[in-house]
Amino acid sequence: MNGSQMTTIGERKRLSHPLKIEATSTVGRGKAVILDTEPAQKHWSDRWVSLALGDSLSLYESWERPTVIVSDGAYGVLGFEGDTSDHLNLPDWYEPHVTAWSAAALPSTTLWFWNSEIGWAAVHPVLERHGWRYVGANVWDKGKGHIAGNINTNRIRQFPVVTEVCIQYVFEARINGLPLKEWLLAEWKRTGLPLREANIACGVKDAAVRKYLDQGHLWYFPPVEKFGMLVAYANQHGHPGGRPYFSFDGVTPVSESEWAKMRSKFSCPHGVTNVWQRDALRNGERIKAPNGRAVHLNQKPLDLMERIILASSEAGDVIWEPFGGLFSASFAARRLERHAFSAEIDPTYYQFGIKRFTSPNDPHQLQLW
Ligand SMILES: C[S@@+](CC[C@H](N)C(=O)[O-])C[C@H]1O[C@@H](n2cnc3c(N)ncnc32)[C@H](O)[C@@H]1O
Repeated sequence: MNGSQMTTIGERKRLSHPLKIEATSTVGRGKAVILDTEPAQKHWSDRWVSLALGDSLSLYESWERPTVIVSDGAYGVLGFEGDTSDHLNLPDWYEPHVTAWSAAALPSTTLWFWNSEIGWAAVHPVLERHGWRYVGANVWDKGKGHIAGNINTNRIRQFPVVTEVCIQYVFEARINGLPLKEWLLAEWKRTGLPLREANIACGVKDAAVRKYLDQGHLWYFPPVEKFGMLVAYANQHGHPGGRPYFSFDGVTPVSESEWAKMRSKFSCPHGVTNVWQRDALRNGERIKAPNGRAVHLNQKPLDLMERIILASSEAGDVIWEPFGGLFSASFAARRLERHAFSAEIDPTYYQFGIKRFTSPNDPHQLQLW
């Protein structure tokens, strides 16, 4: 056998399953503390949050349907027990979760998907296949402080990575199996009225046909008052035999308030862009074990969690955090008076995470033993 034909056992395994490289280990790297105590309670809740020790997959069905899902799960970096060793396994890792999210999503649900760039690229097709529509990519730039000049670029042979991404998706609303823009056009056509009359219905020169009934990228979600005008006109002037037009139930036309719920919420504070320049967690922000070490390597900044929750929900809405860690999104949600549902599978992280809620004045010096 010449050199070019030789393969190691590892390579042969890889070649026989090119997309199924097994994780070399499922043990999380750098876990600073492992509690050998089991938590007294496997569930903790107050007026705003409901936090469980367990697999979120078995809990989704018991959670109220979400306005927002904040996903900060596997990155393919062996970041925690059960994380995969590279991005190739991420689609399989996420698929059951994405399936469950789609089953629970409302037309107004936003998903924020945190990951590395390559992790997101790997999972994006799964999200699309399950009805999640890409809106935008936000880049968390942790700045040069994150690498502190320690990186040997000759060895890593790439520019040092100081970013993560947080991708905004919305759940594609469908009525009678049709995406909204197709349903709007189909209903208008059912009236028997010419397309251009939609402009008269909405009191505009040509915007209705050009925007609300367009089937391409120019399509625009009709604002509630324009939708109301479209519906009123269609039901007054459309062919009497086909009434009601624009109805969910075939009995009454859709109201303006029902229409408002057919899309996700979004508001952006002035001056915020999709590049989030925000240092990596500073020492004082990290949840520390009594030995002084950071409890969770993936703990997210509360201000970024607050930013995405504020942008996509209102007080009283429901936020899901399927991969709790130290429950940063739930903690932010509670501060913003949203209801949060979360699960963490690892008892150590769960116990430290819960302490954030039960000892709010002493979040960084946790005495668990
Ligand atoms: C990237 S970390 C989340 C960190 C979190 N955003 C924070 O700020 O603390 C992902 C967490 O998800 C947990 N996890 C993984 N699979 C899970 C599952 N099926 N159910 C619940 N938790 C899970 C891991 O143990 C890990 O702590």
